[in-house]
Amino acid sequence: MQRLAIDGTTLLAQLGQLGAIGIDAMGARTRLAASESDKHGRDQLVAWMHDIGLEVRIDAIGNIYGILPGRDRTAAPLMLGSHIDTVINAGMYDGCYGVLAGLAVQRALCQTGIVPACDVVVVAFTNEEGVRYQPDMLGSLVVAGGMPVADALDVIGTDGTRLGDELARIGYAGDMQPGSIVPSAYIELHVEQGPMLEHADVLIGAVAHLQGISWQQLTITGQANHAGTTPMTMRHDAGVAAAGITVALHQYALASGTTRATVGSMQVSPNAINVIPQQVVMTVDIRDPDDARVDAAEAHLREVMDAMCATHGVDITAERLVRFPAVTFDADLVARITQAATQRGLSCMPMISGAGHDAQMMARIAPTAMIFVPSRGGISHNPAEYTSDAQLIAGAQVLCDVVQTFI
Ligand code: HGY
Ligand code: MN
Ligand code: MN
Repeated sequence: MQRLAIDGTTLLAQLGQLGAIGIDAMGARTRLAASESDKHGRDQLVAWMHDIGLEVRIDAIGNIYGILPGRDRTAAPLMLGSHIDTVINAGMYDGCYGVLAGLAVQRALCQTGIVPACDVVVVAFTNEEGVRYQPDMLGSLVVAGGMPVADALDVIGTDGTRLGDELARIGYAGDMQPGSIVPSAYIELHVEQGPMLEHADVLIGAVAHLQGISWQQLTITGQANHAGTTPMTMRHDAGVAAAGITVALHQYALASGTTRATVGSMQVSPNAINVIPQQVVMTVDIRDPDDARVDAAEAHLREVMDAMCATHGVDITAERLVRFPAVTFDADLVARITQAATQRGLSCMPMISGAGHDAQMMARIAPTAMIFVPSRGGISHNPAEYTSDAQLIAGAQVLCDVVQTFI
């Protein structure tokens, strides 16, 4: 079979068009899961899927499937995909690149009249980012059997909305049973979102491992009091306790060499210049390629929390939002990625993913691997996120070549 060529022009144009959806008045790109702007992005994706002539299905957790029929409709399909929901003030490539590159592969098959041996499915998973609804990777978690769909639909977001209601409101509460398509393999193309490829001056990452993830929400309760009259020794300052936890975690992770810890969200109340903070609600994101080290970091966090309670006379409760174990991807798939890149004369190196991805869930039910392309400056979850056109097309071409080894 001749090697298919990706239509890079259409891929880049669609990335730009999807990237223009969800820009707010301040110029920030935000398409939180099941929001109005997510709906607009979804509608555009579905329209592009119809343009190719794909069968389009929506499952009960809102995952969108574009299916290119194969010769044997009963064979387990090959699945490509990622997500099109974003974080707040996001870049334009995170997730969208993998979904639209999948469409580009299907488009190349259609345009050359090649009917694949099995169906080739492109999926856009619901709520990969987990900013509005936790846990993240929720759509793929349900598909992988990690959470009953009814429980997922009942998840209450940070804005008090119920995911199931919002999916129905935007018209993406589908009828297909999540998990009813079990792929023969799942391949996810994604921008690296980190500095490793650029630092190594390598174009393609053959992702063999993805690190463990822990998300917790801490609620620190102290005592509001007057900033001017309350002696320093008589305070129960939730803000100081929050700061102590943040700095202690940062120093622990820095000293570890492999663990990464982030306090990304912090709400102080009553949030007034002359009132000692009564309460702080903060999130803690801990990751490490070794799950035992994630557990060790969580244990250290508990020690620090206890010390803050004793020192500041505050109360701290912790709610677990996520604990996803590290995954090792399928060695055969990783080898196919490496071979595809090498055959095109593209530099390639094995990698560990620092970010969570839907592939982390799909690895539970199918041979799975990821392909990375460089992120300039290692920047992501930031509108400055950038990957060059040539790098984007090269990554999509490698994805296409790997698909061709299956069909
Ligand atoms: O948090 C993550 O790694 C992913 O972007 N949801
Ligand atoms: Mn992503
Ligand atoms: Mn992301």
